[in-house]
Amino acid sequence: MRINGQHFETIWTDRNNKEKIKIIDQQKLPFKFEIKTLTTFDEAYNAIKEMTVRGAPLIGVTAAFGVYLAMLGKVNNEKLADFISLTCSKMKTARPTAVNLAWAVNYLESELQGVKSVVEARILSFNIAVKLKELEIEYSNAIGEHGLQLIEEISKQKKGTPVNILTHCNAGWLACIDWGTATAPVYKAHQKGIGVHVWVDETRPRNQGSKLTAYELAQEGVPHTVIPDNTGSHLMQHGMVDLVLVGSDRTTRTGDVCNKIGTYLKALAARDNNIPFYVALPSSSIDFKLSDGIKEIPIEQRDGDEVRFALGKEGKTQLVPSDSPVANYGFDVTPARLVSGLITERGICEANEEAIKKMFGK
Ligand code: MRU
Repeated sequence: MRINGQHFETIWTDRNNKEKIKIIDQQKLPFKFEIKTLTTFDEAYNAIKEMTVRGAPLIGVTAAFGVYLAMLGKVNNEKLADFISLTCSKMKTARPTAVNLAWAVNYLESELQGVKSVVEARILSFNIAVKLKELEIEYSNAIGEHGLQLIEEISKQKKGTPVNILTHCNAGWLACIDWGTATAPVYKAHQKGIGVHVWVDETRPRNQGSKLTAYELAQEGVPHTVIPDNTGSHLMQHGMVDLVLVGSDRTTRTGDVCNKIGTYLKALAARDNNIPFYVALPSSSIDFKLSDGIKEIPIEQRDGDEVRFALGKEGKTQLVPSDSPVANYGFDVTPARLVSGLITERGICEANEEAIKKMFGK
């Protein structure tokens, strides 16, 4: 999508040197647009951990490039298989909840099985990282086309008046490579001339909604309004939300959806007000091994300072008394029964084991 009219993806290889991986520094947005260069495994690992890049699909692709950078740093063929295994295991610890990370690294590791030299490992890991990146773009694009039908339908029912969509966190192109997941249908609708308006949850404590979703929607000229996290349910009671559209960091094979903390509350309010609650996700976010999201999905707990302090244009400011303990859970799980449907790259399906199996096979 565009920034100041220029098309960007969230991660790319330097045009003149493919040993340099470029990312947009998402910690600086929306106040500064800065491009960072990753040249080592540690830089890629820390970019994920510190959330310079974030969002499930982007974490996965960055992790794959990080493994490639580790191969560039290995100077000989000694104990190559052990090195690959250790590198992949370490990368998977960068963040625990989004399954895309493990999905991308496991795939890469399995493809690297049996490579005979570090040169071979470098070529293969680079090609796979690029392939995963292209795959995520393809997935987001397809999610956009499928989700567009939902928005078109509501728009017809509303006789062309703008469709009000509420979203949480940033499941936009900044969380992916291009298009986004939850935002992809919105961009497609907007480009087709269908009236849309997005309610953007600010998404405390890191404010991915007010900082990133608002920024990217503004850059694309999509009408939107930023709201505090506790406003959505009020809007729903007053007929001001037609559709809730969120992303997912991990969805079980039974349709439980783990997403940014606060998503569950939106789903409860949507159900109480009879408003469709859809989750847009690529299959790389489905954990086919898990059947109970609440019991089985690891929930990231981040540094309490993210709650104690707010980071704004002018810097950091304290919000909480110095002596008060804080808790900072990154994600929550919305049970499948509250999800109206899953918008995937293969189409829209119900959030249950049978429908997911039908859509994706074994
Ligand atoms: O902690 P973050 O910023 O990585 O969390 C991102 C989200 O929760 C997104 O909604 C999610 O990754 C959906 S993916 C497009």
